[in-house]
Amino acid sequence: MSYVRTEDLVEITPASAGASEEPVALVAIGVFQDTETLTASQEALDELVGGGLTRARDRGDFRGRDSDDDFALFHRDGDGPQRVLFVGMGKVEKADRETVRKLAGRAVRRAEALSVTELHLVVPALVGEEDGAFEAVRAGAEGIHLAAFDFRELKTPGEGDDAPKPLVDRALLSVDGDAGSGLDEAIRVGSAFGAGENLARVLQFRPGNVATPSHLAEVAEAMAADLGLEITVLGPDEMEAEGMGALLSVAAGSDEEPRMIVLEHRGGDEGEAPLALVGKGLTFDTGGISLKPPKGMEDMKFDMSGGAAVLGAMKAIGMLRPGVNVVGVVPSSENMVNGKATKPGDVIRTRQGKTVEVINTDAEGRLILADALSYTADHFKPAAMVDCATLTGACVIALGHQAAALLGSDDDLVEELRGAGDRSGERCWPLPLWDAYRSQLESPVADLKNVGGRPAGSITAALFLSEFKGDVPWAHLDIAGTAYGEPRAPYQRKGGFGFPTRLLLEWVRTRSG
Ligand code: BES
Ligand code: ZN
Ligand code: ZN
Repeated sequence: MSYVRTEDLVEITPASAGASEEPVALVAIGVFQDTETLTASQEALDELVGGGLTRARDRGDFRGRDSDDDFALFHRDGDGPQRVLFVGMGKVEKADRETVRKLAGRAVRRAEALSVTELHLVVPALVGEEDGAFEAVRAGAEGIHLAAFDFRELKTPGEGDDAPKPLVDRALLSVDGDAGSGLDEAIRVGSAFGAGENLARVLQFRPGNVATPSHLAEVAEAMAADLGLEITVLGPDEMEAEGMGALLSVAAGSDEEPRMIVLEHRGGDEGEAPLALVGKGLTFDTGGISLKPPKGMEDMKFDMSGGAAVLGAMKAIGMLRPGVNVVGVVPSSENMVNGKATKPGDVIRTRQGKTVEVINTDAEGRLILADALSYTADHFKPAAMVDCATLTGACVIALGHQAAALLGSDDDLVEELRGAGDRSGERCWPLPLWDAYRSQLESPVADLKNVGGRPAGSITAALFLSEFKGDVPWAHLDIAGTAYGEPRAPYQRKGGFGFPTRLLLEWVRTRSG
């Protein structure tokens, strides 16, 4: 199975003619709610369908609401587009990049319903934002790639009526209003973000018997060779030599060997401190001896979502080559049960030196991350280090599925990430990392225990991690509620979302100026 699937990426180009002139199977344009007048492009398309848009608006059949159900579709013949789709975008004062991604998602889903594989998407110019037209085109390209993604590699191809519906594979993009220049660059950036997030999704969707730690390492190696990234992969012997007793204690109960993947993009000056991205790559979490209940356990194939997002982000970074050094680190293991498995009460020694009493073998993510964080801090002395992990069920209780929990040692870094979350559409929200919670991690026999009891589970998990960051400015994203699940946006499908690939990339982009 290939790592990159460029063959599955939509081919996106800037439209060369106006919305009403391009001869495509489907042209889609967004319409805001409660606007009196039509834009020039909307008017031209309205005319093309004999005033159908005006009629639909007058009759209240189409209001432009921010809803998958509020659209108007017209069929025509002759030159130009064969079908014209008007898509609701909600109130104009609420318009942002996510509005455009959703527009793209709704256009692609309508194309799928119509079995057409090409579309012309006309995006609004986002006049309230700096570089509004550029950002709109970028978000449009991103939304198209994300929406068109479908994980099909494990389904047997059918024939005739059983054949899977074709996917959108070609798109034209243009701006409703003044496009300015830089359309190609906007498409390039949006496509890289989409490609990165789609790689993360492929890895998330692949089940535990396919996406093992060594599989993730192979994918990373192929990607590094393709994009010119440096790569180092640690196996059990190297981990032993590094003294990574925490990571090895999680892998002890499994027949699959652990790996730690280290990818480097050298885009900044030599010796310049890199930005570090670290992701939990737990390819299947049974809970270990503290076994999880069977219901829903299949979802624990998604426990490598943080690692998948780091690999996805490194892919986009390899494509875009920003002028900054970036290192991506993915500690990867299974959490299984055999005669060698770590037992509750066992005391292990982390790479950094602290001993840990393992109270609950299901709190394994913080163990593999402890060794990865101290390794990254010591080897790379990063300017900043961000980790992401499906770390605690408590995070889902606190924030549900709308935002990742954000905790960190550095207020500026936390604020940067929160902003990157808003702009990328992958939001995160702060929880306090106060010392007052630290006593919950005290152990009578070791330096720390690996669980802090029921209250404030996401905070004590982050406090545990903070013991291993060295003196590096660090922040942690708990993505347990946001990495996968039921779709929440029209550019997602049930399963892996690739979250927080775009958030990480947006942060790297702001840091690289
Ligand atoms: N991978 C889980 C966290 C998780 C739970 C992710 C639900 C996604 C959805 C993690 O390894 C885990 O099991 N955490 C335990 C910690 C507890 C034992 C302190 C949890 O949250 O229950
Ligand atoms: Zn667990
Ligand atoms: Zn886990």
